Amino acid sequence: MLNIFKIKVFFFAPLIKFILKNPGVMKSKLFLKAMLIFPKMVSKTYDKKIDRSGPDYHKALEAGLTHIFNKPKEIIDLCTGTGFSAFKTAEFFPSSSIEAIDQITEMLDIARGKAQKSGNTNINFKIGNAAKLNYENNRFDFIVTSNAPIYLSEAVRVLKHEGLLLVVFSFSGDAFVTMEVHIAKYLKNSGIALLKMESIGNGVYILGQKTR
Ligand SMILES: C[S@@+](CC[C@H](N)C(=O)[O-])C[C@H]1O[C@@H](n2cnc3c(N)ncnc32)[C@H](O)[C@@H]1O
Repeated sequence: MLNIFKIKVFFFAPLIKFILKNPGVMKSKLFLKAMLIFPKMVSKTYDKKIDRSGPDYHKALEAGLTHIFNKPKEIIDLCTGTGFSAFKTAEFFPSSSIEAIDQITEMLDIARGKAQKSGNTNINFKIGNAAKLNYENNRFDFIVTSNAPIYLSEAVRVLKHEGLLLVVFSFSGDAFVTMEVHIAKYLKNSGIALLKMESIGNGVYILGQKTR
């Protein structure tokens, strides 16, 4: 019988390792262009895909959020898309101020529609480039980002000293866990200490803290 776990790890682990060793690929022209084209194409069907993925899809994010211990006031959700992490973060921290940025208007329009429908007022959905953020240094207590490229140097720049960074992937959690040593090293090189990493549901959360 095919072992799906082994196949996923076999496929994703080298890919994760490659990106960790060559973070420059996320700054390449080709990659940045793809990031402007594909999210736009899938924006209309994106939430349906999340719904079809079932409750397991949310587990890693929810589990990660339970470990946010610094009572964050200023939060940012990077690459928010249709607001998957922003809305869940708002449930955990209803009196915090949440900036949620994405560079695709079509994604943000859907997120704003959902905010209006639910009456949410503490998320500010804003157009922006996560690789070149329009915020001052050391502004945020907590950064969350899910299912998206990690623009680590910018994230670290806008994070306060001892602020928390939560990176979530709702898929291939096991493959990420096999890469824990490499992930810890990658984060450490940018001044982030890995506090906790756990594969849960289909996904994984990676919790780090800025140390410098
Ligand atoms: C797969 S979606 C994930 C959306 C959401 N965080 C989630 O978990 O459902 C990836 C998102 O990252 C956004 N993105 C990628 N690169 C970006 C950048 N440089 N600046 C802002 N948004 C970016 C895309 O526009 C897209 O909406």
